[in-house]
Amino acid sequence: METIKYYLNEKTKLLKKNFVNLPRLEARLLLSKILNKSLNWTYLNLEKKITKKQFENYEKIIKKKIKRFPTAYLLENKEFYSLNFKVNKNTLIPRPETEAIVDEIKKNLNKKNFFSFLDLGTGTGCILLSILKEFKKSVGIGTDIHLKTLNVAKLNCKKNNLTSRTKFINLDWNNKFFLRKIKKINKKFTGFKKFNVIVSNPPYLLKNEMKTLSPEVKFEPVQALYDNKDGLSFYKIIIPNLNFILSKNGYFYSEINPKNYKKIENICKKNNFFNFKFINDLSKKKRFILIRN
Ligand SMILES: C[S@@+](CC[C@H](N)C(=O)[O-])C[C@H]1O[C@@H](n2cnc3c(N)ncnc32)[C@H](O)[C@@H]1O
Repeated sequence: METIKYYLNEKTKLLKKNFVNLPRLEARLLLSKILNKSLNWTYLNLEKKITKKQFENYEKIIKKKIKRFPTAYLLENKEFYSLNFKVNKNTLIPRPETEAIVDEIKKNLNKKNFFSFLDLGTGTGCILLSILKEFKKSVGIGTDIHLKTLNVAKLNCKKNNLTSRTKFINLDWNNKFFLRKIKKINKKFTGFKKFNVIVSNPPYLLKNEMKTLSPEVKFEPVQALYDNKDGLSFYKIIIPNLNFILSKNGYFYSEINPKNYKKIENICKKNNFFNFKFINDLSKKKRFILIRN
């Protein structure tokens, strides 16, 4: 068998030939996964030889990368707000831009106080768990339509020692009893009827955007990306009912499709919410809405 240096060079060339972005880094990340070592270790041990079994596993994972399997799925991990989250094909891979929701909450709320958070469509649990890591006196409920997704969120919760302050509920927000059920669960969990803060990163892509997804994104769960309608169904269900579940002066933070911001503005106004603002992402697009109840 050959050295780490040899295989890194060989697989970098192969990935490059197959149009994989950042081929050297990808080759290194995947090798570190197979060897169960840190990325740093692979820099410091270039002359070490790998075993036949490790080589075979490396070949397998490189083949998946050539098919554009997302690297986070291959590594089974994605960092979000400096925490490590387990990810798999049942979860959306947390996106760095979503971290802005946690930043906004930190700007507006005092960490020393108690808040009850609700995360709708929690996925890996990345938003809720990152918030609860910062707000140590607070509690939160995460919901998702898929049990398999919630199982990953639960694992992430345990890994981050947040089980006593978190609940995960398998519920579809299209269910007509959704709001009543969530309210009842919150009452039992926190003693309060309403949430102080509701966060979400719902599926919001448009039908035509689904046709132009990058090869990697095509591996992610469709229901995490697209509501099978107009990318607005979440806002149409939740915004008109905010008063029912959100406390007076409470906050609603949600990621949005910048292309839909006017329509979301209209939903707010139609439902007598005038205290709202859009927040830009790094590319200056209206990516988030903040509603104050
Ligand atoms: C864009 S992903 C966001 C995941 C995670 N919050 C994040 O930011 O990485 C949307 C999530 O909403 C969930 N979801 C989609 N439709 C839903 C519904 N009708 N009821 C509850 N959850 C839903 C999906 O399963 C998915 O986990």
